[in-house]
Amino acid sequence: TTAYVPYKVKDMSLAEWGRKEIRLAEAEMPGLMALREEYGASQPLKGARVAGCLHMTIQTAVLIETLIALGADVTWSSCNIFSTQDHAAAAIAATGVAVYAWKGMTEEEFNWCIEQTLFFGEKREPLNMILDDGGDLTNMVLNQFPELAAGIKGLSEETTTGVLRLLDRVKAGTLPMPAFNINDSVTKSKFDNKYGCKESAVDAIRRATDVMMAGKIAVVAGYGDVGKGTAASLRGAGARVIVTEIDPICALQAAMDGYAVKKMENAIKEADIVVTATGNCDIITEKSFRALKDKAIVCNIGHFDDEIDMAWLNKNYGSTKDTIKPQVDLYTIDGKEIIVLAEGRLVNLGCATGHPSFVMSNSFTNQVLAQLELWQHADQYENQVYTLPKHLDEKVARLHLAKIGVELEELNPHQAKYIGVDVEGPFKSDLYRY
Ligand code: NAI
Repeated sequence: TTAYVPYKVKDMSLAEWGRKEIRLAEAEMPGLMALREEYGASQPLKGARVAGCLHMTIQTAVLIETLIALGADVTWSSCNIFSTQDHAAAAIAATGVAVYAWKGMTEEEFNWCIEQTLFFGEKREPLNMILDDGGDLTNMVLNQFPELAAGIKGLSEETTTGVLRLLDRVKAGTLPMPAFNINDSVTKSKFDNKYGCKESAVDAIRRATDVMMAGKIAVVAGYGDVGKGTAASLRGAGARVIVTEIDPICALQAAMDGYAVKKMENAIKEADIVVTATGNCDIITEKSFRALKDKAIVCNIGHFDDEIDMAWLNKNYGSTKDTIKPQVDLYTIDGKEIIVLAEGRLVNLGCATGHPSFVMSNSFTNQVLAQLELWQHADQYENQVYTLPKHLDEKVARLHLAKIGVELEELNPHQAKYIGVDVEGPFKSDLYRY
């Protein structure tokens, strides 16, 4: 273990500004605030040492302070080198939380930050819970510090890509603790991935480039939850959107939502803006780069930076790279200038501030409920990947209705019997897809 560093952020003078924005975000995060109300007095997370690795934003600050309000000790790092909001990190550090995060760190610093979160306080007590986004913290613990696994009750994983890594581990028999898949709560993937990206995708491209969206041709690779939100975002801004897909069901959905659906090799030639949203590798490769128009904008909204072949780009055209401003780079390929955002990393957190608070409150309420369940009842679970039961998913949604003035009908007993559910829910079978 390395020497104890209590926290590391960019600039503590930003703490006051961060605190003001956290206060505003709390008003938009009714799910998290309701959990503080419900569980604050009983301190159910007392004794939990939660190491978190998730974009250190204002919204995440409200998550961290909710875990603390429920009794947990918390350490934190960001799961992306560009996603930290330095004022949020400073505000959290100012309260004495061990946070290691700043915007624009190197890969080495990224790993250093995660490593700092494994041991708590001057006593260097090891973590006993993991809260992850993308699996980098989980992988560090299980691959580099396997001796810590026995003391960890469980982990909760935020995103599609991290869940894929966990399922690989289950298959390989290398998951040594129970895990909750937060992503596949309906109130996560069908809201954060979709409505979140609907707001943050265009926000990022605008903040980065100020380009006129209306009339432009935008190509969105992947029409899963993130792709659906991203395509809607661009269409909402007036762009003409083309979708690419490998899955016939999602391709048909895109077509019936009114988008052109093409192969990338055909779509790319016309594209003014390309956004990858597949969670897969090698979507924009040498061939695509060479086919792009002059001044085309290329970015990725999936979790990792291998959707766009940045390795090829930097190896062959790195010498032409001209930084317009942080996270906005111009490359010259075959005489054409190509604009690449956030170095191919997730653009909404690199070039903007991620999703708005209200939608993140849904995701993070699921996170807190999973942490509570694992901390209190880990012994009732196998070393598998679980989703929260539907009644909790419905609870998360319910906690967000009043804020936006939603009125909900209530079933009478006759109606409930007629459709075969309880008056109190759950209202759908586990097979229902929303
Ligand atoms: P998903 O599985 O719902 O959607 C991915 C889609 O891409 C699927 O429909 C799949 O068929 C398609 N696809 C795969 N390979 C393809 C290829 N070669 N060409 C065209 N389409 C292809 O996954 P989801 O939830 O949409 O997540 C996508 C990525 O975004 C993941 O890495 C996830 O972790 C990340 N994510 C990012 C967020 C952000 O705020 N930036 C928020 C939530 C998730």
